[in-house]
Amino acid sequence: MRRIGLIIAGCGLSLAVFAQKEVSIKIDTESKGPVISKHIYGHFAEHLGRCIYDGFYVGDNETKIPNTDGVRNDIVAALKELQIPNLRWPGGCFADTYHWKDGIGPKEERPTIVNRWWGDVTEDNSFGTHEFLNMCELLGTAPYLSGNVGSGTVQEFADWMQYVNNDGVSPMSDLRRENGREDAWNVKYWGVGNEAWGCGGNMTADYYANVYRQYATYMGGWTSNEGIQKIASGASSGDYDWTETLMKKIPARLIDGIALHHYSVIDWDNKGSASEFSEEQYFITMQRAYEMEELVTKHIEVMDKYDPEGKIDLVVDEWGGWYDVEEGTNPGFLFQQNTMRDAMIAGMTLNIFNNHANRVKMANLAQAVNVLQAVILTDEEKMILTPTYHVMRMYTVHHDATLMPLEINNTSYVKGDAELPAISASASEDLDGKKHLSIVNIDASQSYKIRVPFSGVKKSQVSGEVLASGKIQDHNTFEKPSHVAPVEFKDFKVKEGNVELTLPPASVVVLEIQ
Ligand code: AHR
Repeated sequence: MRRIGLIIAGCGLSLAVFAQKEVSIKIDTESKGPVISKHIYGHFAEHLGRCIYDGFYVGDNETKIPNTDGVRNDIVAALKELQIPNLRWPGGCFADTYHWKDGIGPKEERPTIVNRWWGDVTEDNSFGTHEFLNMCELLGTAPYLSGNVGSGTVQEFADWMQYVNNDGVSPMSDLRRENGREDAWNVKYWGVGNEAWGCGGNMTADYYANVYRQYATYMGGWTSNEGIQKIASGASSGDYDWTETLMKKIPARLIDGIALHHYSVIDWDNKGSASEFSEEQYFITMQRAYEMEELVTKHIEVMDKYDPEGKIDLVVDEWGGWYDVEEGTNPGFLFQQNTMRDAMIAGMTLNIFNNHANRVKMANLAQAVNVLQAVILTDEEKMILTPTYHVMRMYTVHHDATLMPLEINNTSYVKGDAELPAISASASEDLDGKKHLSIVNIDASQSYKIRVPFSGVKKSQVSGEVLASGKIQDHNTFEKPSHVAPVEFKDFKVKEGNVELTLPPASVVVLEIQ
């Protein structure tokens, strides 16, 4: 315990007064770090529950929801605000069941597909390759396609690449033109299967490494495929052997990235409610989220051994909080509320990714709309932005900015015998020379004074935003959509070359220093 507590009791009141420890964050403004790839701020849209159908896509039929070619205008506008750099599709587990040719051509002729992983619902394939890639153009985002390895073929995968990327004359590009699209979309990011150790085929790492080599061999060849990023299905959380086997067995010329999936789950058999949870459960979620620091550090150590020049990226293409589904909703749809707890996961995780930007070049929050740690929830024509959305928006300042390494003289958030660093932070400098510092205080009940030495800084040069709320369970609802929203941050002063600020409990602050 690092806090000194004094209990004052009287008039039936019991008050705990803590001697607060001051935290300092020392930013190294001299040694420039790597560029924080904007692709760390990527999203994920799987055919799962109400993410695509009844989420992004309301279809071509008469609907009162304003849309462009079936894609909701309000979602597009909200995601544009986030400047989402890439969007992963069609899965997830769904990807290894998906046959892309079923999702092209006249919609009335497309066969159906039963979504066997997610609720066994029958989909009509009305949202396919064209609908997704055109939606990415609307969003101004780079598509990240996950190809089917588990139940597909090398030919099917290679054909998909030819269909979307080949500008010349070829059977697949001709078919694309027949289906109404003249220009190739030039998709850069390609995932070779998903969770090959599980729903992607239950393969061993050795076996998958060979399968990967075979697929990757046929992913090149078209001029327009130059510069494509081939991303291998990666480890689940701490499976370092998986990463090691892939690094050892796959020639560097065939691979550009290795994925990693990690969810903040209390217990897979008892995940707990998304919005009604105790502080103990909150603390465990924070522990799970904080594991990301160790995971990326150790996976990077393995990668460094085989690729000291850092040519192969670590791509955390699924991360986020995972709880029990909301009562009364389909258990296969993974629909959950999103609270200040999720804002903490987001702020902390993004700080971890920023601070490891030398190797973590891409990541995808799971998932964008109505599934898991969503940034957007919809209910018919209504739409709300979640606390996670707000963190993502506040952190856009780090997109493609240069990392400034920092050191935190931290304090602990203590629960029982366990403790976690209370404060996490990352800092960057953008192309205009503006500096940004994002700070998260995960402590559910304690505010902290933070001192950031910044020589020569004047108060007029500092501004900021804060996301905080009375309780860690606080969230937005369709009735109260702005219950949790960021506001201007005013609780700071500048004194003798230091920015001194107070971070409320469970809060995210992003400071700008001009
Ligand atoms: O994001 C939900 C699921 O979690 C994905 O389909 C799968 O890849 C992971 O297990």
